[in-house]
Amino acid sequence: MWVSKRAGAVPGSVFALMDGAKGRARAAGLEVIDLSIGSSDLPPADSVLEELREATRDPGTYRYPLFSDTAPLRRAAAAYLARRFGVSVNADAEVLPLIGAQEGLAHLLLAVTDPGDTLLLPDPCYPPYLGAAAIAGLNVVTLPLRADRGFLPDLEELPAGLRPRVLLLNYPNNPTSAVADAAFFRRVAAWCQERGTLLVHDHPYAELTFGAYRAPSALEAGVQGVVELHSLSKTHHMGGFRVGFAAGDAQAIGALARVKGATDFHAYLGIQRAAAHALGLPDEVGRAGAAVFETRRDALVPALQALGWGVTQPQASMYAWARVPGVSDSVGFAVRAAELTGVAVSPGAAFGRGGEGFVRFALVQPPEVLREAARRLGSVPV
Ligand SMILES: Cc1ncc(COP(=O)(O)O)c(C=O)c1O
Repeated sequence: MWVSKRAGAVPGSVFALMDGAKGRARAAGLEVIDLSIGSSDLPPADSVLEELREATRDPGTYRYPLFSDTAPLRRAAAAYLARRFGVSVNADAEVLPLIGAQEGLAHLLLAVTDPGDTLLLPDPCYPPYLGAAAIAGLNVVTLPLRADRGFLPDLEELPAGLRPRVLLLNYPNNPTSAVADAAFFRRVAAWCQERGTLLVHDHPYAELTFGAYRAPSALEAGVQGVVELHSLSKTHHMGGFRVGFAAGDAQAIGALARVKGATDFHAYLGIQRAAAHALGLPDEVGRAGAAVFETRRDALVPALQALGWGVTQPQASMYAWARVPGVSDSVGFAVRAAELTGVAVSPGAAFGRGGEGFVRFALVQPPEVLREAARRLGSVPV
């Protein structure tokens, strides 16, 4: 009786199923290697933690933070975009702090769409996108991401008359680890502009890049008609702090501020200070964290390839996305793998129909544990 149509429309998660399988593995005495959750296991930089500690000693941080209080974080975000991507945004009108990119996206969709509007969404995708779309009452049109196209969408294959209200993309991509270049974003932004579509780019893996590769910002294609969501969860290992920012089109950011004004009072000022400090740290700090994930990639990917699994070398993100030969029920396979070997991975189907046949590894364990995980998975019947 007390469940709205909106709440009822939010899809359930197969992660509860994986939790059950992990529990059964533990009960059977197996040592569980959990690679199913994409939460960084690295700590934030010491100076970030010190900034937060300092803030808790300042009584000026204990009250409700107002919009004007967010100015230092907004300025730090604008300075980061300028330094890192050469993107110029107005810190007062084109930047807004978020309580994480996930919160930002759900509220942004409420801010820029009306029920029944069309949202163009990649398949596979980060599962909360579907929940956010359901809450906003959107008509979801899926955009297939296929391995043979490097998991980049082909906008030309969409019906010519399609005029979506929003196109949501995410590169470096979860779950596929695929990356996109600046020319791709220019093409996509032009496509959106022609159709009156807002391009929303979810960019939480912006700094988790490997080797010489650096991820571009969608805002390099222009700020009008584009909103980018940044997060400190992965890039600065601050997932539990719940902090990020949105930047881009002033109208969309203004609408988001209105919606958020009715739902939250911004993050705790101490967290805002810690985040502003983190965004101003030298790039080498972020590179050091990324290098840890790169070493893990270098341990896991060849071990999976040796099993005959289809996996390409990720250039970014904290995941490996692998096609498991002979598997057409990835949920069944992942549950079986957890129960028989204690290795928990995310079934590809959890990310949409386009993920079927794949599993996603989160690179959240040291190299030797990842190699051990691959060794155990080799024994799972398909
Ligand atoms: C694509 C994508 N967007 C957003 C998030 C969540 O970011 P935040 O912690 O800032 O809410 C994640 C976390 O895994 C993600 O993979």
